[in-house]
Amino acid sequence: MATHPLDHAALQETARDHLLLHFTDHARAFADPTGGAAHELLVLERGEGPYVFDTRGRRYVDALSSLYCAQLGYSYGEEFAAAISGQLSTLAFNTNWSTAHPAAIELSAEIARRAPGDLDHVFLTNGGSESVEAMWKIAREHHRAMGQPQRTKAIARDRAYHGVTLGALAFTGVPGYKDGFGTPPIEVAHVSNTNAFRGMREGEDEAAFCARLLDEVRDAIAAAGPDEVAVIVAEPVQNAGGCLTPPAGYWPGLRAIADEHGILLVADSVICGFGRLGTWLGIEQEGVVPDIVTTAKGITSAYLPGGAVIVREPVAAALRRTDAGPLRHGITFGGHPAVAAAALKNLEIFERDGILENVRAREGHLAAALEQLRDLPIVGDVRGAGFFRAVELVADDEGTRLSKPQRDDLLRGFLPGRMLEAGLIARADDRGDAVVQIAPPLISDDALLDEIVGRLGDVLADAGERLHGGTRVRTGTGAAGGRA
Ligand SMILES: Cc1ncc(COP(=O)(O)O)c(C=O)c1O
Repeated sequence: MATHPLDHAALQETARDHLLLHFTDHARAFADPTGGAAHELLVLERGEGPYVFDTRGRRYVDALSSLYCAQLGYSYGEEFAAAISGQLSTLAFNTNWSTAHPAAIELSAEIARRAPGDLDHVFLTNGGSESVEAMWKIAREHHRAMGQPQRTKAIARDRAYHGVTLGALAFTGVPGYKDGFGTPPIEVAHVSNTNAFRGMREGEDEAAFCARLLDEVRDAIAAAGPDEVAVIVAEPVQNAGGCLTPPAGYWPGLRAIADEHGILLVADSVICGFGRLGTWLGIEQEGVVPDIVTTAKGITSAYLPGGAVIVREPVAAALRRTDAGPLRHGITFGGHPAVAAAALKNLEIFERDGILENVRAREGHLAAALEQLRDLPIVGDVRGAGFFRAVELVADDEGTRLSKPQRDDLLRGFLPGRMLEAGLIARADDRGDAVVQIAPPLISDDALLDEIVGRLGDVLADAGERLHGGTRVRTGTGAAGGRA
């Protein structure tokens, strides 16, 4: 922790001169260095509990857990440091290529112990995109070992984000992200996601909506050739598009379709895993065991970067067949001893401090608080699960989508700055429909959740006034409207 004020202006300038940012519009990020806090690069230097502090000393509630990673917030540093330092003093590094080390072995067992069903085998990675890449290689090697090398295609969902390395990017369904990067190396058919607010048709109930979505998956498999599809990949709750929860029966339906055709079912739990939905792998609540689960982010609560791919016994068994040959995939740093030690410490803290229990106990409170935001005319839908929630912004009571200029003005211009002014870090996201998303640290209590929702409500009220040029009161049928 810095004990003296960092030179705020110098950091802004040095960042502008040298640091290339991820997923950032560089022209906009550095457009106005003299325009005040809302117009400069947010540089965070310190964390404490659920709060982070910038180089001006301003405090923010990190209501996004640093991009869904900081499950425990920022006050467990000493415990993690002791675990990491102990490991580095004992064995700073060894790979998991043909050899192993105790921390990786123990971590694989500890994850398997918590995973549902026979998800008993763990391949360690450095992050989410790597987990998705490894998932694909493991799935292909499995099918090859089973005498089905022709299974080269995949099913994923519209607007889903599965990472941006070139293999993972093939699964990603966000419009525009693939443009200019060549033909994806994997043939992936994208089917509808589970956005009920936009996707459910007039007169359709949840069961009918679910049945139609599953029919679409069946149709996509038929079109691809059922014995050519290797995997179906979906997030338990889809992030891009705004915390899209599945209708009841969706995951059991996917499981049945996958089983019928010998396809591997993959839950991409990079965000949903490690407590975000109140469960270990983010899928237990659906009552099905996927063949493969991809994880990252919360696996270490971001005290170090890590990830894991967890596979069921039959998938691992195929890799172990004497005629299977070696798994042709490996990453030098996958399962680094220090990261494994951090992940083990994370699991220990989760159990000791009742982290999953905290989410389960308080998710209803968070949902109820957010529901009240429907009173704001700009809020068309409120959705999500666990500590992973979104509000969708609309232009009017009929749920009309924001126009392009309105989206640009609100989501890229007004809201990011206004949220920071309100001391709130949340995500204004326009990759699908216009949403603002929160994913509070899993240590949050009711008071903090109320504080987050209160600040968000103030910001959204201002956004509504900006949109309509004055305060408006909702009329008509309100929240039920807006399906398109
Ligand atoms: C569902 C999902 N899969 C994969 C990824 C890629 O993870 P990473 O950014 O760690 O490579 C993400 C990132 O947010 C994600 O949300």
